[in-house]
Amino acid sequence: MKVVSAEFVRSAYNNSHWITDERPEIAFLGRSNVGKSSLLNSLVGRKGLARTSNTPGRTQCINYFLVNGKFYFVDLPGYGYAKVSKSMRADWGTMARDYLTDRGQLVLFIQLVDARHPPSELDKELNDWLLANEKPHIVVATKADKLSANTLAKQLSIIKSEMPESKILLYSSSTGKGRDQLLDEIGYSLKKS
Ligand code: GTP
Ligand code: MG
Repeated sequence: MKVVSAEFVRSAYNNSHWITDERPEIAFLGRSNVGKSSLLNSLVGRKGLARTSNTPGRTQCINYFLVNGKFYFVDLPGYGYAKVSKSMRADWGTMARDYLTDRGQLVLFIQLVDARHPPSELDKELNDWLLANEKPHIVVATKADKLSANTLAKQLSIIKSEMPESKILLYSSSTGKGRDQLLDEIGYSLKKS
Protein backbone atom coordinates (compact mmCIF):
# COMPACT_ATOMS: atom_id res chain seq x y z
CA MET A 1 0.00 0.00 0.00
CA LYS A 2 1.17 3.55 -0.70
CA VAL A 3 0.40 6.62 1.39
CA VAL A 4 -0.38 9.55 -0.89
CA SER A 5 -1.92 11.91 1.65
CA ALA A 6 -2.35 12.23 5.40
CA GLU A 7 -3.99 14.95 7.45
CA PHE A 8 -4.83 15.53 11.09
CA VAL A 9 -8.60 15.56 11.53
CA ARG A 10 -9.45 15.93 15.21
CA SER A 11 -8.68 15.13 18.84
CA ALA A 12 -11.29 13.31 20.90
CA TYR A 13 -11.46 13.73 24.68
CA ASN A 14 -14.68 11.74 25.14
CA ASN A 15 -17.01 9.64 23.05
CA SER A 16 -19.02 12.61 21.80
CA HIS A 17 -15.90 13.58 19.84
CA TRP A 18 -15.50 10.23 18.12
CA ILE A 19 -15.61 10.29 14.35
CA THR A 20 -19.03 9.34 13.08
CA ASP A 21 -18.39 8.39 9.48
CA GLU A 22 -17.93 4.74 8.60
CA ARG A 23 -14.44 4.79 7.15
CA PRO A 24 -12.22 1.94 8.36
CA GLU A 25 -9.79 2.64 11.18
CA ILE A 26 -6.36 1.34 12.16
CA ALA A 27 -5.50 1.84 15.85
CA PHE A 28 -2.08 2.22 17.45
CA LEU A 29 -1.85 0.79 20.96
CA GLY A 30 0.90 0.43 23.49
CA ARG A 31 2.43 1.81 26.61
CA SER A 32 3.31 5.42 26.96
CA ASN A 33 6.51 6.43 25.15
CA VAL A 34 6.78 3.14 23.23
CA GLY A 35 6.69 5.04 19.94
CA LYS A 36 3.08 5.03 18.69
CA SER A 37 3.08 8.57 17.33
CA SER A 38 6.53 8.05 15.79
CA LEU A 39 5.34 4.87 14.07
CA LEU A 40 2.34 6.72 12.64
CA ASN A 41 4.61 9.49 11.33
CA SER A 42 7.01 6.99 9.84
CA LEU A 43 4.18 5.20 8.02
CA VAL A 44 2.86 8.41 6.46
CA GLY A 45 6.37 9.78 5.84
CA ARG A 46 5.70 13.02 7.77
CA LYS A 47 7.88 13.60 10.82
CA GLY A 48 5.74 16.16 12.61
CA LEU A 49 2.21 15.00 11.82
CA ALA A 50 1.54 13.29 15.17
CA ARG A 51 3.27 14.97 18.09
CA THR A 52 6.07 12.93 19.62
CA SER A 53 8.03 13.54 22.78
CA ASN A 54 10.58 12.25 25.24
CA THR A 55 8.05 12.94 27.97
CA PRO A 56 5.84 9.88 28.47
CA GLY A 57 2.13 10.60 28.42
CA ARG A 58 2.36 13.13 25.60
CA THR A 59 -0.73 11.94 23.74
CA GLN A 60 -3.64 12.33 26.19
CA CYS A 61 -6.54 12.03 23.78
CA ILE A 62 -7.55 10.04 20.73
CA ASN A 63 -6.12 11.66 17.61
CA TYR A 64 -7.52 10.93 14.17
CA PHE A 65 -5.53 11.18 10.94
CA LEU A 66 -7.21 10.69 7.58
CA VAL A 67 -4.98 8.75 5.17
CA ASN A 68 -5.45 8.76 1.38
CA GLY A 69 -8.90 10.25 2.05
CA LYS A 70 -10.05 6.67 2.70
CA PHE A 71 -9.27 5.47 6.22
CA TYR A 72 -8.13 6.71 9.63
CA PHE A 73 -5.04 6.14 11.67
CA VAL A 74 -6.12 6.41 15.30
CA ASP A 75 -3.40 7.40 17.77
CA LEU A 76 -4.48 6.37 21.26
CA PRO A 77 -2.98 7.56 24.54
CA GLY A 78 -0.38 5.22 25.99
CA TYR A 79 -1.05 3.06 29.02
CA GLY A 80 1.07 2.31 32.05
CA TYR A 81 2.42 5.78 32.65
CA ALA A 82 2.94 5.68 36.40
CA LYS A 83 3.23 9.41 36.98
CA VAL A 84 -0.30 10.37 36.00
CA SER A 85 -2.88 10.36 38.79
CA LYS A 86 -4.94 7.27 39.54
CA SER A 87 -8.12 8.88 38.28
CA MET A 88 -6.43 9.80 35.01
CA ARG A 89 -5.29 6.21 34.62
CA ALA A 90 -8.83 5.01 35.25
CA ASP A 91 -10.14 7.52 32.68
CA TRP A 92 -7.67 6.24 30.13
CA GLY A 93 -8.72 2.69 30.82
CA THR A 94 -12.39 3.45 30.37
CA MET A 95 -11.99 5.55 27.26
CA ALA A 96 -9.64 3.10 25.54
CA ARG A 97 -11.68 0.06 26.52
CA ASP A 98 -14.91 1.66 25.26
CA TYR A 99 -13.16 2.65 22.09
CA LEU A 100 -11.59 -0.71 21.42
CA THR A 101 -14.75 -2.61 22.23
CA ASP A 102 -17.35 -0.56 20.39
CA ARG A 103 -15.74 0.44 17.13
CA GLY A 104 -16.91 -1.94 14.44
CA GLN A 105 -14.89 -0.01 11.87
CA LEU A 106 -11.57 -0.90 13.52
CA VAL A 107 -10.05 -3.24 10.95
CA LEU A 108 -6.57 -3.59 12.46
CA PHE A 109 -5.08 -3.14 15.92
CA ILE A 110 -1.37 -2.40 15.85
CA GLN A 111 0.04 -3.30 19.27
CA LEU A 112 3.45 -1.76 19.90
CA VAL A 113 6.03 -3.23 22.22
CA ASP A 114 9.59 -2.07 22.85
CA ALA A 115 12.01 -4.39 21.04
CA ARG A 116 14.55 -3.84 23.82
CA HIS A 117 12.47 -5.30 26.63
CA PRO A 118 10.34 -8.35 27.30
CA PRO A 119 6.62 -7.48 27.08
CA SER A 120 5.28 -5.99 30.34
CA GLU A 121 2.30 -7.34 32.25
CA LEU A 122 0.12 -4.64 30.67
CA ASP A 123 1.43 -5.54 27.20
CA LYS A 124 0.48 -9.16 27.82
CA GLU A 125 -2.93 -8.18 29.21
CA LEU A 126 -3.69 -6.18 26.09
CA ASN A 127 -2.46 -8.99 23.87
CA ASP A 128 -4.66 -11.51 25.73
CA TRP A 129 -7.61 -9.16 25.34
CA LEU A 130 -7.03 -8.83 21.58
CA LEU A 131 -6.88 -12.60 21.22
CA ALA A 132 -9.84 -13.31 23.50
CA ASN A 133 -11.96 -10.82 21.57
CA GLU A 134 -10.71 -12.06 18.19
CA LYS A 135 -9.51 -8.61 17.18
CA PRO A 136 -7.42 -8.52 13.99
CA HIS A 137 -4.03 -7.38 15.21
CA ILE A 138 -0.31 -7.36 14.67
CA VAL A 139 2.43 -6.83 17.25
CA VAL A 140 5.08 -4.34 16.20
CA ALA A 141 8.36 -4.46 18.15
CA THR A 142 9.72 -0.98 17.63
CA LYS A 143 12.97 0.91 18.33
CA ALA A 144 14.76 -2.00 16.63
CA ASP A 145 17.51 0.42 15.56
CA LYS A 146 18.67 0.59 19.17
CA LEU A 147 19.81 -3.05 19.20
CA SER A 148 22.55 -5.04 17.46
CA ALA A 149 21.41 -7.78 15.07
CA ASN A 150 22.32 -10.46 17.61
CA THR A 151 20.46 -8.93 20.52
CA LEU A 152 17.52 -8.17 18.28
CA ALA A 153 17.18 -11.84 17.30
CA LYS A 154 17.26 -12.83 20.99
CA GLN A 155 14.68 -10.19 21.93
CA LEU A 156 12.42 -11.26 19.07
CA SER A 157 12.38 -14.84 20.30
CA ILE A 158 11.53 -13.66 23.84
CA ILE A 159 8.62 -11.57 22.54
CA LYS A 160 7.47 -14.50 20.37
CA SER A 161 7.50 -16.84 23.34
CA GLU A 162 5.40 -14.38 25.38
CA MET A 163 2.95 -13.71 22.55
CA PRO A 164 2.97 -16.97 20.61
CA GLU A 165 -0.39 -16.49 18.91
CA SER A 166 0.34 -13.10 17.39
CA LYS A 167 2.20 -12.09 14.25
CA ILE A 168 5.23 -10.03 15.25
CA LEU A 169 7.05 -7.52 13.09
CA LEU A 170 10.33 -5.73 13.86
CA TYR A 171 10.20 -2.01 13.24
CA SER A 172 12.25 1.17 13.46
CA SER A 173 10.66 4.55 13.01
CA SER A 174 14.17 6.00 12.71
CA THR A 175 15.41 3.83 9.83
CA GLY A 176 12.09 2.74 8.27
CA LYS A 177 12.87 -0.93 8.91
CA GLY A 178 9.63 -2.94 8.62
CA ARG A 179 7.72 -0.08 7.01
CA ASP A 180 6.91 -1.73 3.67
CA GLN A 181 5.79 -4.90 5.40
CA LEU A 182 3.54 -3.07 7.84
CA LEU A 183 2.01 -0.99 5.04
CA ASP A 184 1.25 -4.25 3.21
CA GLU A 185 -0.44 -5.64 6.34
CA ILE A 186 -2.53 -2.47 6.59
CA GLY A 187 -3.45 -2.66 2.91
CA TYR A 188 -4.48 -6.28 3.34
CA SER A 189 -6.69 -5.47 6.36
CA LEU A 190 -8.38 -2.66 4.43
CA LYS A 191 -9.10 -4.93 1.46
CA LYS A 192 -10.71 -7.50 3.71
CA SER A 193 -12.92 -4.89 5.39
P1 GTP B 1 2.79 8.75 24.25
O1 GTP B 1 2.12 9.66 23.29
O2 GTP B 1 3.37 9.44 25.44
O3 GTP B 1 1.95 7.58 24.63
O4 GTP B 1 4.11 8.15 23.52
P2 GTP B 1 4.23 7.47 22.09
O5 GTP B 1 4.03 6.01 22.21
O6 GTP B 1 3.41 8.18 21.07
O7 GTP B 1 5.81 7.67 21.79
P3 GTP B 1 6.51 8.72 20.81
O8 GTP B 1 6.23 8.37 19.38
O9 GTP B 1 6.22 10.10 21.24
O10 GTP B 1 8.06 8.35 21.05
C1 GTP B 1 8.65 8.42 22.33
C2 GTP B 1 10.15 8.63 22.17
O11 GTP B 1 10.76 7.47 21.55
C3 GTP B 1 10.53 9.82 21.29
O12 GTP B 1 11.66 10.43 21.83
C4 GTP B 1 10.86 9.17 19.94
O13 GTP B 1 11.77 9.91 19.18
C5 GTP B 1 11.46 7.84 20.36
N1 GTP B 1 11.25 6.77 19.34
C6 GTP B 1 10.06 6.32 18.90
N2 GTP B 1 10.23 5.33 17.97
C7 GTP B 1 11.56 5.16 17.84
C8 GTP B 1 12.38 4.29 17.03
O14 GTP B 1 11.91 3.44 16.25
N3 GTP B 1 13.73 4.41 17.17
C9 GTP B 1 14.31 5.29 18.04
N4 GTP B 1 15.64 5.31 18.11
N5 GTP B 1 13.58 6.14 18.80
C10 GTP B 1 12.22 6.08 18.71
MG1 MG C 1 2.01 9.63 21.28
